[in-house]
Amino acid sequence: MDRDELPYVVEPMKLEDIPELVEIERQAFPNPWPARAYRYEVAQNRLAHYFVARRQLPEELEEEPPEEGAHLLKRIQRWAQTSTQDNRPMVGYCGFWIAAQEAHISTIAVEPKYRERGIGQLLLVTAIEKALELDATLMSLEVRVTNFVAQNLYRKYGFKVVGRRPRYYSDNREDALIMTVDRITSESYQRILQRRRKQLLRRLQRHALVGP
Ligand SMILES: CC(C)(COP(=O)(O)OP(=O)(O)OC[C@H]1O[C@@H](n2cnc3c(N)ncnc32)[C@H](O)[C@@H]1OP(=O)(O)O)[C@@H](O)C(=O)NCCC(=O)NCCS
Repeated sequence: MDRDELPYVVEPMKLEDIPELVEIERQAFPNPWPARAYRYEVAQNRLAHYFVARRQLPEELEEEPPEEGAHLLKRIQRWAQTSTQDNRPMVGYCGFWIAAQEAHISTIAVEPKYRERGIGQLLLVTAIEKALELDATLMSLEVRVTNFVAQNLYRKYGFKVVGRRPRYYSDNREDALIMTVDRITSESYQRILQRRRKQLLRRLQRHALVGP
């Protein structure tokens, strides 16, 4: 595999993705959503935007090297349109709801054996880019107070703690932190995003050489 190749594709979620997704969901969350919740999000919720990341099979990879820091979502969507195979393993997924220029991340998860190789960031960047396309100016989410891994991921993309919801999670009555990043359309945030994209592309390419 060439160093310039990107080993994942991110596509809009389809109903057919859900059985594979719920296996990851069960491993990722103490209080997993059932398949029917995802079916509602994909088929009925007009405010919802969900994506799945899949491992790109070597024969599908583009020969053309990607531009440095290229707009990830555009490139990835182009790949999705040319892709015909269904046997690429799912490595993660994310989703958000949009209302009144606020995009609220509802879920993000990476298959355990594919973690710590940039896929969480790839999904988050995809969500931010899609939210920007939809004219969002603010991103928000809730995260468990003890989920330091996810909090680190969000901080990396400029999210800050702005509040707390006491006993938000029903399984253990744990509090949620509310995190937001505002002015995502500002020049200063665009510069941060561009820097992160470049770092992320390099990281994804590095892991492509190692493989799962
Ligand atoms: C949170 C999650 C999506 C991150 O996915 P991932 O693919 O492992 O993340 P990445 O490899 O893109 O890492 C991005 C950043 O997350 C943070 N992070 C990831 N793994 C970490 C770890 N083990 N310890 C501390 N921080 C970590 C770091 O800030 C990292 O950036 P860095 O590598 O430059 O330091 C993944 O751990 C997961 O699915 N967790 C279970 C589900 C969950 O908690 N979802 C969030 C709900 S709010």
